Amino acid sequence: MAANPLKIAVIPGDGIGAEVMPYGVRCLQAVGRIFDVQFEFEEFDFASVDYYEKHGDMMPKDWKEKLSKFDALYFGAVGMPDRVPDDVSLWGSLLKFRREFDQFVNLRPCRLLKGVTTPLANPGDIDFYVVRENTEGEYSSIGGKIFEGTDRETVIQETVMTRTGVDRVLQYAFELAQRRNKKLTSATKSNGISITMPWWDSRVLEMSKKFPDVAVDKYHIDILTAHFVQRPHIFDVVVATNLFGDILSDLGPACTGTIGIAPSANINPSGTFPSLFEPVHGSAPDIAGKGIANPVGMIWAGQMLLGHFGYHEAADALLKAIENVLARSEPHILTADMGGKGDTKSLGEAIEKEILAMK
Ligand code: NAI
Ligand code: MG
Repeated sequence: MAANPLKIAVIPGDGIGAEVMPYGVRCLQAVGRIFDVQFEFEEFDFASVDYYEKHGDMMPKDWKEKLSKFDALYFGAVGMPDRVPDDVSLWGSLLKFRREFDQFVNLRPCRLLKGVTTPLANPGDIDFYVVRENTEGEYSSIGGKIFEGTDRETVIQETVMTRTGVDRVLQYAFELAQRRNKKLTSATKSNGISITMPWWDSRVLEMSKKFPDVAVDKYHIDILTAHFVQRPHIFDVVVATNLFGDILSDLGPACTGTIGIAPSANINPSGTFPSLFEPVHGSAPDIAGKGIANPVGMIWAGQMLLGHFGYHEAADALLKAIENVLARSEPHILTADMGGKGDTKSLGEAIEKEILAMK
């Protein structure tokens, strides 16, 4: 278990990020009060378009020094494409956090909560995690173009897999599977991508020898996406390269309802740098300023933060509080994206109240 108090850098960012963040913090404080977890929150105004317009940069020069001393970053959302291009705002903030803090695991729960409408006709019991490699693989900048603008125009972009990079994410996934239901699925495509993917498979096999109690299976990515839709209940922990994980970590949560509730963690497992916990959604400029954003993604991200630091009792209670409130499906509480007439405040406060009632 991590240090108590947990030092958390609060970075609300843009649009609805700043609207949902207060409820994330309040729910953490509430659950902390009951399960005796102390927090030290410090809020930062950078990593936002407002900051950029004032200072000409998304973050101060010493951002890394400022944030390194925290246990975790609790992040809202960034981006206001009408004011600053997305490549400037996202690459100038969130993507720097992920890369420079070596957050090599992207973790997303896919869990169907009662009271949440799924697009699937026969979903069954969905409760699994996607573990995505977050730093290398298909998303490399090695490559280039030659003979541009001619008939011989040629473009190449290389996939980079390293033993260090692959083994560390596999290790994380196996450990997660070991703590859960001892079942791990690997996403592959060794029938088509004939050098890197058979090698990925061989690293999975090698790592599995260290975890003899974890059952391992693998599927090619194409049929795996079909299984996510047709038989999502069969999965427990799914591990994938950067590209395949990117796709699966959108598809999985999409099978379990609205984007407004999905959380995500970018983890540096060694703790050398802080990990980052955020909702999956962006700043939603179309609804920003109206106070109607769903705060569940933000609050659930706080739940992942607690789980990451080993506060499992508090984490389970927070998830239960979310589940209880959503399961009651009260229209005046739920936000519009869930078919309700409520707003950020009604749903955020209902979850906070639910936690406090758990005493
Ligand atoms: P988005 O996730 O902000 O919004 C997509 C759609 O979902 C919108 O119709 C929005 O109203 C709705 N939505 C999102 N979150 C919601 C919530 N909590 N409650 C109710 N409805 C919600 O994605 P979009 O529109 O593609 O991007 C907007 C901006 O956010 C862009 O600048 C983009 O680059 C940025 N972005 C940032 C992310 C991050 O900070 N991690 C992730 C995704 C996008
Ligand atoms: Mg994506």
